[in-house]
Amino acid sequence: MKIPTIQTHRLFLRPWTPEDAPVLFQILQEPEIFQYFPPSPPPTLEKTGRYITHQLAHWQDRGYGHWAVISQDDNRVVGWAGLEYLPELDQTEVAYLLSRKVWGRGYATEAARAAVGFGFETCRLPGIIGLVHPENAASIRVLEKCGLVFTDRLTLWGLEMLRYSARRQE
Ligand SMILES: CC(C)(COP(=O)(O)OP(=O)(O)OC[C@H]1O[C@@H](n2cnc3c(N)ncnc32)[C@H](O)[C@@H]1OP(=O)(O)O)[C@@H](O)C(=O)NCCC(=O)NCCS
Repeated sequence: MKIPTIQTHRLFLRPWTPEDAPVLFQILQEPEIFQYFPPSPPPTLEKTGRYITHQLAHWQDRGYGHWAVISQDDNRVVGWAGLEYLPELDQTEVAYLLSRKVWGRGYATEAARAAVGFGFETCRLPGIIGLVHPENAASIRVLEKCGLVFTDRLTLWGLEMLRYSARRQE
């Protein structure tokens, strides 16, 4: 499939390319960017490249995946957002991670809303979940602003998480 590009008010969500790896790698080295993720060393450039390859394959398998988030201001990659199928749960998760340089502008909400809309309207997914560390207040707020509601707590990848979810409205 041809991966679509979505334009929101201030962002583009466009397909990843292998050439994006160095700039994404820089973002992933920012302090505390993975504060609420399962503990692991900061990803290498090689691992960042594997993330991109994985996402491109995921799009082909499922018809959705993560996009590169681009700020229209300066046409730079500022992070990732999109949808990922989780075989552990047999559910699709909305995910987002942005450079600290652009936090607090509403970009995550803008990108996540577009991803959720794509999942329901284009992919016709029956439901979308969000998994979030209980202390990740900004991410919880993003999920709520996308219309997801708290469902339960679960332990996944060794981490206690809150699960939020939304069903497609007919
Ligand atoms: C979570 C993250 C994507 C939020 O990005 P962002 O672009 O700053 O989010 P937004 O600007 O859209 O803000 C979302 C809401 O969270 C609120 N918020 C932001 N930081 C907050 C904080 N530290 N505590 C409480 N609320 C906060 C904002 O005020 C906003 O709510 P409002 O519109 O009601 O005022 C960003 O912090 C990030 O990339 N973190 C690292 C990766 C990560 O944790 N991803 C999520 C994994 S589940």
